Amino acid sequence: MNSPFILLNYKTYAQGTGKGAVEIAKACKAVSEESGIKIAVAPQLPDIYRVASEVELPVFSQHLDGIGAGSFTGHVFGKCIKEAGAVGTLINHSERRLTLAEIEASLKAAKEFGLRSVICTNNVPTTAAAAALGPDYVAIEPPELIGSGIPVSKADPEVVSGSVEAVAKINPDVKVLCGAGISKGEDLRAALDLGSVGVLLASGIVKARDPKAALEELVSLI
Ligand code: G3P
Repeated sequence: MNSPFILLNYKTYAQGTGKGAVEIAKACKAVSEESGIKIAVAPQLPDIYRVASEVELPVFSQHLDGIGAGSFTGHVFGKCIKEAGAVGTLINHSERRLTLAEIEASLKAAKEFGLRSVICTNNVPTTAAAAALGPDYVAIEPPELIGSGIPVSKADPEVVSGSVEAVAKINPDVKVLCGAGISKGEDLRAALDLGSVGVLLASGIVKARDPKAALEELVSLI
């Protein structure tokens, strides 16, 4: 089996801000090296450069706008996050919803700048639609389970297996992640058993008293 992929979204949690962003990335790097499991982090945008400069670990942006160079005040430009050290980006999170046209434009920008793309979705039909656009990954996250501590891989296994099936029919090159409520080794194990290649998670690690110990537990059943 290929190594699973763990993508840790820091959201705007205080624990993952500024110096905390670097400390959590260091914990991820240590656990990735100990376990051989691929771990990447998505800190807040102003922390991308800091994390990428101080820790040798793949860094993702939490957002990317489908714009180019020019008159786009307040937008997130692909070239800028790439030069800050990001290797990929989330697109369309439940907490940062985009229209279909915006998702397509963000994906185009990610491809233009050689950034890996993770389109987040909320159910099987939107996962299928996202897969049709051809990102590297789709990440299925039922919004009602986000931040709940109730793992999608156990509470709603059908949405994960249904997404995996739908994506395989539409575009088998797209890999499926799942997320929402994932924090334990058994949650990650269940996610992989349902056919996903890994997880997108946040609060269970970023808000843990000891993020390194939480990560070690997360990968303990692989
Ligand atoms: O992007 C990850 C996410 O929305 C899941 O959050 O806190 O349930 O792991 P959480």
